[in-house]
Amino acid sequence: MPPPQTFHVKSFGCQMNVYDGERMAELMAADGLVAVDADQADLVVLNTCHIRERATEKVYSDIGRIRKVAGKAGRTPMIAVAGCVAQAEGEEIVARAKVDVVVGPQAYHQLPTLVAKAAKGAPAIDTDMPLLTKFGALPARRRSGPSAFLTVQEGCDKFCTYCVVPYTRGAEVSRPFTAIVEEAQALVDAGAREITLLGQNVNAWSDGARGLHDLICALDRVPGLARVRYTTSHPNDMTQGLIDAHRDVEGLMPFLHLPVQAGSDRVLRAMNRHHTRDSYLRLLDRVRAVRPDIALSGDFIVGFPGETEAEFAETLSLVEAVGYAQAFSFKYSPRAGTPAATLAEQVAPEVMDERLQRLQAALGRDQIAFNQASVGRTCTVLIERPGKRPGQMLGKSPWLQSVHLVTDAGIGDLVEVELVSAGPVSMGGVAAARLAA
Ligand code: 5AD
Ligand code: SF4
Repeated sequence: MPPPQTFHVKSFGCQMNVYDGERMAELMAADGLVAVDADQADLVVLNTCHIRERATEKVYSDIGRIRKVAGKAGRTPMIAVAGCVAQAEGEEIVARAKVDVVVGPQAYHQLPTLVAKAAKGAPAIDTDMPLLTKFGALPARRRSGPSAFLTVQEGCDKFCTYCVVPYTRGAEVSRPFTAIVEEAQALVDAGAREITLLGQNVNAWSDGARGLHDLICALDRVPGLARVRYTTSHPNDMTQGLIDAHRDVEGLMPFLHLPVQAGSDRVLRAMNRHHTRDSYLRLLDRVRAVRPDIALSGDFIVGFPGETEAEFAETLSLVEAVGYAQAFSFKYSPRAGTPAATLAEQVAPEVMDERLQRLQAALGRDQIAFNQASVGRTCTVLIERPGKRPGQMLGKSPWLQSVHLVTDAGIGDLVEVELVSAGPVSMGGVAAARLAA
C-alpha cells in the first residue's frame, strides 16, 4: 500500500483521549499528512476507549464499518488502532481484524514510523509504556480553541478492583512543571483562554516539592489565561493546599469532579477505594468551607458485585447529602483482568437497570436544583461556539454549565452574563452590558 497522504483521527471516551487525539493529529500534520473527513482519509486512526462495556467489540464493528464505506468508494484505507483498547488487546487486534497499526497510549509519538512500516506491508505494533517519552517527541502546540486540555499526569496506582486504567495507562507519572507551563503558554498563544489540566489522578500530580496547587498558581499567572480547571481527582489526593487554592486562586474555577463511586463503606472497601463515606463527606465540607459556591461532580457505579438494596440506598442518601451539580453514573460491568470480575456475587442485570434509573433520577433532580439556584447570578461566560438560533452563542459558566445567550461577542471572548433561566442541562443568560442598556 502506498504511504498515506491524508488522515483522520477519531477519538472515543475520556478527555485525555481527546487530548491524545489532538496531539496525534498535530504529529501527523507535522509529518506532512493532510487532515480530512473520515470517509476521505488514506489513514484512519481510531483512538479507542476501554472503559465502557463491550468497548472491544465496538472497535471491531467500527473497523468493519469504515472498510465497508471505503470499499463502496473503491478505497482501502490504512487503519491504526490507538488508545486503551490497543494497549489491552495488542496483537489480538491484528490477528482478528487485520489492521495495519496498533499503538498504545504511551507510544503514539511513534505513529509516523509505524505508519511508514505498515505501508511496506507488515503490520506495525507498539504497546510499550515508556514513562513520558512521548511528550518530548511531539511537536509544539500551535492550534487551540478557547478551552484547551493539557495532560499533566497519567496513569493510576490506586487499583480500584473494577478498573482497567492501572493496566492500560500504567503507573502514576507526572510531567515536569516547566514542560507543562511551556505547553500552557503555547496554548494561550494559540488562542486558549481556559485550560483543563488532565490526569487519571490529576491531584496526585507532583514535581519535587510542588503539588498541583503550585502548578495551578503558576498557570494563573500566565498572561492571557483566564481560567484553570482540573480533572479527575481522587479523594485521597485532595491536599489542603489544593482546597485552599479554590479560595485563593482567582482563575481556578469553582468546580470539582470528585468521584465517590458508592455510598456504602462495605462496597467502598470491596472496591479498594481507600476512603469511607464519611471521609468523603468531610472532605467536601472542607472544600465548601473555603468555596461555598463550588459545583460538585462525581462518578458512580451501581451494582458492584454483592451490592445489596440497603447498600445501594446508602449511595442514594450520599447523593442527597451532597447535592451534586452534575454527575456520571454507570452500571458495573466486569473487566477481564480486574479483581472484581472474578467475584461470585454479580448483581442481576434487571436489578442494576432499576438502581441506575433511581440514581439517575436523583442526580437529574439535583442538577436541575443546582441550575435553578444559579438563576440571578452574574458571572463570566467563556464563549465557545455559535448556538442554534441566529445571534445566539454558547459558552460555559464558571460552574461548567452550558449557557446560551444572544451576544455579538465572538468565540474566545469572556462576557459578563446574568443567568436568567435554568433547564435540566443548560442555562439561559443575558449579557450584562445588554442588561444595563
Ligand atoms: N464498570 C462500571 N463503571 C466503571 N468505571 C470504571 N470502571 C468501571 C467498570 N468496570 C467508571 C467509574 C470511573 C469512570 C471513569 O468509569 O465510575 O470513575
Ligand atoms: Fe480506576 Fe480507581 Fe485509578 Fe480511578 S482511581 S483510574 S477508578 S483505579
